Amino acid sequence: MDERSIVFDNYQPSSYNEFIMFENLKGFIKPGSIEERLVNQIDFNRLPRHVAIIMDGNGRWARKKGLPRVEGHRAGAKSVKEIVETCARLGIKVLTLYAFSKENWKRPKREVYTLWKLLKDYLKNESKVLVENNLRLKVIGQKQGIPAIVRKELEKVEKLTTDYERMTIVLALNYGGRSEIVDAVKEILGEKNFHAESLDEEKFSEYLYTANLPDPDLLIRTSGELRISNFLLWQMAYSEIWITKALWPDFRRKHILQAIVDYQKRERRFGDVHS
Ligand code: FPP
Repeated sequence: MDERSIVFDNYQPSSYNEFIMFENLKGFIKPGSIEERLVNQIDFNRLPRHVAIIMDGNGRWARKKGLPRVEGHRAGAKSVKEIVETCARLGIKVLTLYAFSKENWKRPKREVYTLWKLLKDYLKNESKVLVENNLRLKVIGQKQGIPAIVRKELEKVEKLTTDYERMTIVLALNYGGRSEIVDAVKEILGEKNFHAESLDEEKFSEYLYTANLPDPDLLIRTSGELRISNFLLWQMAYSEIWITKALWPDFRRKHILQAIVDYQKRERRFGDVHS
């Protein structure tokens, strides 16, 4: 893409994708801003289809400000809204957010309570936004372990948005990558007419919580930690990893744009040699 500014109305889009993205971004990105400079570097025909995010650093953000940890999560929920909107406008098809791991139950009761409450509030406040913007919500994780009151709300919004196609927001809740694999194996072993020789990688993927979703092209982790923390272990086989020191509550539009610009500079080889 050339250096033209996205606020110019007389640009000549090079493809239909580019046209749609410019339409979505017009008025959303400030002229002359760092975001605009980054958007102009993005090739809209080579976007990552699926972006997955480990939202880390809420507790540290709060501590730095002398606030209780739960305030970090509250601020983190605001980042969620900004990033969901940005990804939808960019044309990302799947956005997965690691919001509550199976291990997170070990945290103090008040923190666990706040996390579920924030999620419930998010659903209450955002379901209209999802519907109006053609956004689908999907949950992955051990659903039966999710507090009933939140689970009901989640199921309601999942059902309501099931046919929406602009972008799928996948919330990983009560999620663990290893238990996802074990759950898949259990389901396979429970199949009546299952023949081991018919099992291959593609077939196995159909038993995962993420069945029918593409694997993540890009994994983002905030707060500088170099771990994948039991997240999408199977699906991450060939994902590009982008780590930022920014803590999740400080993660803004410019960070996701930078991640995509950097992603597009990488050569994805999938085990093959250089082209
Ligand atoms: C990790 O930070 C973050 C979490 C365990 C929860 C993420 C939850 C949210 C962003 C809020 C609600 C989500 C939605 C989808 C509305 P941490 O607490 O481990 O941070 P630390 O490592 O600095 O302690």
